[in-house]
Amino acid sequence: MGVAVEIEGLTKSFGKQTVWSDVTFDLPPGEISVLLGPSGTGKSVFLKTLVGLFKPDRGSIRIDGDEITTLRERDLYAVRRRLGVLFQDGALFGSMNLYDNIAFPLREHTRKTEAEIRRIVDDRLDLVGMKGDGDKFPAEISGGMRKRAGLARALVLDPELILCDEPDSGLDPVRTAFLGELISELNATTGATFLIVTHDINTARTIPDHIGMLYLRKLIAFAPREEILASNDPVLRQFLNARREGPIGMAEEKDAAGDADGLGVDDYRGEHREGP
Ligand SMILES: Nc1ncnc2c1ncn2[C@@H]1O[C@H](COP(=O)(O)OP(=O)(O)O)[C@@H](O)[C@H]1O
Ligand SMILES: [Mg+2]
Repeated sequence: MGVAVEIEGLTKSFGKQTVWSDVTFDLPPGEISVLLGPSGTGKSVFLKTLVGLFKPDRGSIRIDGDEITTLRERDLYAVRRRLGVLFQDGALFGSMNLYDNIAFPLREHTRKTEAEIRRIVDDRLDLVGMKGDGDKFPAEISGGMRKRAGLARALVLDPELILCDEPDSGLDPVRTAFLGELISELNATTGATFLIVTHDINTARTIPDHIGMLYLRKLIAFAPREEILASNDPVLRQFLNARREGPIGMAEEKDAAGDADGLGVDDYRGEHREGP
């Protein structure tokens, strides 16, 4: 079943650059939440902070009641075992076929026999619609298949929390819709808690129970989907309707609210780089 994740006053900076600050919200257990935000607002950094790859400057992250920001590497390892992560590019090992890629966390984290591993890997391949594709290599398959294989790998340890970073980037609209449906089905069958970062408005409009949005270094909203979709907030309305008119500009420097909240545009200039 899914775990609750409680995030309180979370702040992350790199040097002088604050990525986001005072992020506070709870991921409801067993439900799907989507995190939106313009490019460079720190969505990937947020997911990496949740899995302990980055240490926050301040604030707390409690997974199933356990504070993880203060854990040592060895104890983090045990927490990570309970998480499934799908990074932006699927992050498969190019030198291994899909079977070995998907078996990797089992070989790394468990003492299961190869027969048990085979049963689990075959089951997860089947789950993502890739039965019999285990002997293919990442370079031989399409982007959509790589995403699904990455998802299969994220699922092998029966995670209670699944984090997906733009699972739909680079996919066509039909494949994006199928992947969204797959995520809904996985949520229904596993009961895991999901947090999905996406730019896809259709995904955001249809899949999640809750939607949050990062903008100008703050979490400006986190609420049930219908509430967000009906919101009059100009940033949310612009983003969810993909409009050019509104507070969000081509670059952060042009974002209207940049000055309004006292975070002058000069704080930003020259410090922004594209994420990985
Ligand atoms: N390892 C790092 N060191 C320094 N700055 C980083 C690092 N990773 C990300 N950043 C910076 O954090 C900001 C947010 O990046 P990212 O989380 O990739 O944005 P998003 O995923 O929302 O597009 C960017 O300005 C990026 O340059
Ligand atoms: Mg990103």
